[in-house]
Amino acid sequence: MIILGIESSCDETAAAICKNGNILSSIVSSQQIHKDFGGVVPEVASREHERLLNYSVEKALDEAEIALSDLDGVGVTQGPGLAGALITGVCFAKGLSQSLNIPILGINHLEAHIYANFLTDPTLVYPLVCLLVSGGHTQLWLVKEMADYELLGESRDDAAGEAFDKGGRILGLDYPGGPAIEKMAHNGDCKAIDFPRAFYKDESLEFSFSGLKTSLLYFMEKKDKSVVLADVAASYQKAILDVLVYKLATAVKRKNVRTCVIAGGVAANNELRNMVKKTIGDEISVLYPEPALCTDNAAMVAYLSQLYMEKGFTSPIDFDVFPNLKVV
Ligand code: KG4
Ligand code: ZN
Repeated sequence: MIILGIESSCDETAAAICKNGNILSSIVSSQQIHKDFGGVVPEVASREHERLLNYSVEKALDEAEIALSDLDGVGVTQGPGLAGALITGVCFAKGLSQSLNIPILGINHLEAHIYANFLTDPTLVYPLVCLLVSGGHTQLWLVKEMADYELLGESRDDAAGEAFDKGGRILGLDYPGGPAIEKMAHNGDCKAIDFPRAFYKDESLEFSFSGLKTSLLYFMEKKDKSVVLADVAASYQKAILDVLVYKLATAVKRKNVRTCVIAGGVAANNELRNMVKKTIGDEISVLYPEPALCTDNAAMVAYLSQLYMEKGFTSPIDFDVFPNLKVV
């Protein structure tokens, strides 16, 4: 089975080809234009998708050496995400589906992030706990089997990625803030500043990051000249990661699973990857996708589409986009 995957939920225009579970090509065009605005501008994102979709799909087909007529189906992100951005990808996919007379399937972006781990290791065994950390979501999932998920906890306000992005803006760094803070933190002392850690070391599996961001803002307003920015970045990053790793470890223990995975853009963070391995990895098998499969991409969409299409799932041609789509 050869599937084309399309992803356009935010500011990455992506297309990928999956053949029998293997990714033959994965094209991600990151929209640089948003850097000028310090964050994603929804209408600009839609216009950029419109401009980049054809190119991305053609390049994915070219690199995979696959003709349009070889495709058995097309999978496309249906939500969650920016409404206009989702619509551009879904319309494009519907046009292909109709003109090629092949089935189409709407895919949940968050579920696709989780399944980037199965793409990395198809022998992963259920049940497992997944920490899903992206720009819009911070969630802990018990993945019992395919399409059987239990939400164990999530953020009450900002997502971890949002905390990185807003923190980056406060520190005067480029968007997205996550990779920029990680880079800056590299030579910093993470114990230099004691930023607040909401719900840390308590029993709940909830998160909250909006207070942390405010605390950084006040700190930067009041700081004196002796403060080293690398120390601020390292301390801020550590405050986010400590909570993520503690809650993930708690969820793993509570659900008594033998495997845990991380997913979403923040899972590309090396410090997080190391901390998870160090804290949980002795007794539990820990897995994370390569960084390019953590941040938004269409390989995860093509792969999950294939898993569902093999089971006979398809969407009606008039299916809608859902900006607030949930996993369950
Ligand atoms: O999954 P993703 O690409 O898009 C969404 O579905 O939201 O995640 C994007 C988020 C952004 O907030 C970005 O700052 C964060 O992932 N991110 C990182 C790193 N790379 C991306 N956060 C921390 N460290 C990184 N290396
Ligand atoms: Zn994402």
